[in-house]
Amino acid sequence: ECSSGTTRRLRGDAAGIAEAARLLARGDLVAFPTETVYGLGADATDAVAVARIFAAKERPRFNPLIAHLPDTATARAEGDFDAAASRLAEAFWPGPLTLVVPAHEQTSVCDLARAGLASLALRVPASALAQDLLARVGRPIAAPSANRSGRVSPTSAAHVLGDLDGRAAAVLDGGATPVGLESTVIACLGGKPRLLRPGGVPREAIRAVLGTELLDAEADSVERPVGPGLLASHYAPRARVRLDAERIEPGEAALLFGPDSLPGLVDARAVINLSQQGDPAEAAARLFAALRDLDASGAAVIAVARVPMADLGEAINDRLRRAAAPR
Ligand code: TXA
Ligand code: MG
Repeated sequence: ECSSGTTRRLRGDAAGIAEAARLLARGDLVAFPTETVYGLGADATDAVAVARIFAAKERPRFNPLIAHLPDTATARAEGDFDAAASRLAEAFWPGPLTLVVPAHEQTSVCDLARAGLASLALRVPASALAQDLLARVGRPIAAPSANRSGRVSPTSAAHVLGDLDGRAAAVLDGGATPVGLESTVIACLGGKPRLLRPGGVPREAIRAVLGTELLDAEADSVERPVGPGLLASHYAPRARVRLDAERIEPGEAALLFGPDSLPGLVDARAVINLSQQGDPAEAAARLFAALRDLDASGAAVIAVARVPMADLGEAINDRLRRAAAPR
């Protein structure tokens, strides 16, 4: 199961999709691209297949998975959509949005994928490859990001293989993922919708559709644990991450945003600018690869310049805070 170097790389064409679907249908793990990040997929109706996801990622079993579906109609068959969930699905699906809704009694998504909860996370991704794959499999696909638990999420097939080679049957190669960070997760469980994780759909866009503010995650959710350092640390490169840097110390790696330079930059070990123009969408798309590349420079510290909170900046800052959290 966990021997190294045995994960097949499938081309993102019709033959690759057909093979990926065949492997998924027989209970194997297949990593595949969505527009956000690569997911590590398994047939969500098959508890044995889903158990392989938790083993491959070394993911705690209390952390539930997202079930991916090809369209809103198949998603609605799995859970109850209140008025807010319906509006959000209509506005943002297919796309980088996950809705947590009450699970139907007869949902096909197995208990293990839901971590035994009465609710269920559903997503309809926009990526054409993901859409084709999901339509072909004809069952919900459970898929967390295709990294080992706690590490930086993968935005390319090479990232997936770097983390999970030998732990999945195959990776479907669709090139770099365009959004670059994970879906926005919103709970619609009666009462006001709650933002569990900022992501590819900015808060401002959701507020505009709902016409109200989103509540924030409660401090005891998986995404906002009360115990500091439990799951707060995530997206962790090997190097220590130093936030809101106003100067670069000699030998540090530097992660910049926007046209401004920082004092000390000439003595940096490596420098990446997420977006010279200060475009949050470009910065989001490059964030995880940049963290991996700066880590590979061998610097002990990655110093990160301030990134404004507007638009995808909230999700970028969320991932950076977790990357910097004590381990
Ligand atoms: O963009 C994405 O969302 C990617 C791609 C592959 O779809 N997937 C992803 O999955 O990021 P993962 O497992 O890394 O993150 C899913 C998040 C977790 O924080 C999990 O705790 C939360 O969704 N979640 C899943 N089911 C939930 C539920 N019933 N209630 C609350 N949170 C839930
Ligand atoms: Mg993840």
